[in-house]
Amino acid sequence: MAANWAPDSWTRGEARQLPTYPDAAALDAATDTLATFPPLVFAGEARNLTASLAEVAAGRGFLLQGGDCAESFAEHSANNIRDTFRVILQMAVVLTYASKLPVVKLGRMAGQFAKPRSTDTETIDGVELPSYRGDNVNDIAFTPEARAPDPQRMIRAYSQSAATLNLLRAFASGGYANLHQVHRWTHDFMVRSPWSKKYAETADRIGEALEFMAACGIDPETVPQLAQTNFYTSHEALLLRYEQALTRQDSLTGDWYDTSAHFLWIGDRTRFEGSAHVEYLRGIGNPIGVKCGPSLEPDALLRMLDTLNPGRVPGRMTLITRYGFDKIEAHLPKLVRAVTRAGHPVVWSCDPMHGNVVKAANGYKTRPFDRILAEVRGFFAVHRAEGTHAGGIHAEMTGQNVTECTGGAIDVTEQSLADRYHTHCDPRLNASQSLELAFLLAEMLNAEMAERKKVAA
Ligand code: PEP
Ligand code: CO
Repeated sequence: MAANWAPDSWTRGEARQLPTYPDAAALDAATDTLATFPPLVFAGEARNLTASLAEVAAGRGFLLQGGDCAESFAEHSANNIRDTFRVILQMAVVLTYASKLPVVKLGRMAGQFAKPRSTDTETIDGVELPSYRGDNVNDIAFTPEARAPDPQRMIRAYSQSAATLNLLRAFASGGYANLHQVHRWTHDFMVRSPWSKKYAETADRIGEALEFMAACGIDPETVPQLAQTNFYTSHEALLLRYEQALTRQDSLTGDWYDTSAHFLWIGDRTRFEGSAHVEYLRGIGNPIGVKCGPSLEPDALLRMLDTLNPGRVPGRMTLITRYGFDKIEAHLPKLVRAVTRAGHPVVWSCDPMHGNVVKAANGYKTRPFDRILAEVRGFFAVHRAEGTHAGGIHAEMTGQNVTECTGGAIDVTEQSLADRYHTHCDPRLNASQSLELAFLLAEMLNAEMAERKKVAA
């Protein structure tokens, strides 16, 4: 257990990116209520995830983390949840087949509400209001009432997270995740997709492998594991009053866990030295992530790893790098070398989204798919050169057919961004782009595995 730590010891640190609530008593009342609610996840599940991530850190697995930039109260439908879950499973099947490695599935779901912002206020036509900070803080509408932080929103976020998690658990264990079914979706999807030719061979081989297994008597009827999967949840641990209220002591081990999700991460804007957010995450037993952007120097990262994982527990730490396609090859090697030399076991995961935002001519914030792929390629190239494992991907994506990121084989153009631009925050990959990304990742993972075999031979 972390020394000199308590669920509220973060209040001693510098807390950036937190809302200023107009009514302190109402805030206390809301968090007091939250503190009486049941945990959303069980500490044992978080430990299982740490164990799976330890395998990834050792090069024997791959982490697939994805979901909305920001979940919203308005878009809480079963279809949304189902479609995102389905695309993540489809991506996982493709990746598992290519790498022959288990894929850890981690949704940015069931709690991903709070958003860090580059400015505290937003000005439109001379009117200045507080920035939108996510549905668990305030409302996106540009009016003084909507933008006032409301602590009751945390209660609603908890309820929505519970309902989402309940459905995800049902899908994961109730038969929806049946491997044959997941492959059939991918197959059906590819029949309709103009880019499918490029990947038809891989898809066919997956189909053949499944048929071969079935012929040997291994199918979901005989081996129930084929109809089930492990699916975990994650979000940025940003709104610390919310996280603190859901921090509970595990009755089995006596350790503290943040029971709002299985995995929590610290954003690029709140990972500085002396940060309240680092102090909070230091004491929880969950596996955790840190976003690593261009301003993070190797020495600062090593100090942070010593703070967050002094026991060097494998699977505890995931480093999520997010540089931008044109910066990754200049920045990542020095971090990889420093961490390897220091002997810290980490999962290296690539967020190719947050360093690649551009403004289209018509004002839409977008991410060109080419740049996303270029950052992923750079990530694999660096790890290949350093002899480390390219361990994961962190994507903002949805199962819906949105038009938010430009490019992809079913081309989203700058002109078509306006058609279905639904995100509450950053632009997401749509279902087709996500699957295309998975096939490209599969090629790269396959190459990494082939290289390893060559070295071993
Ligand atoms: C995010 O993941 O939505 C995010 C804000 O990322 P970052 O902290 O890397 O900017
Ligand atoms: Co985002």
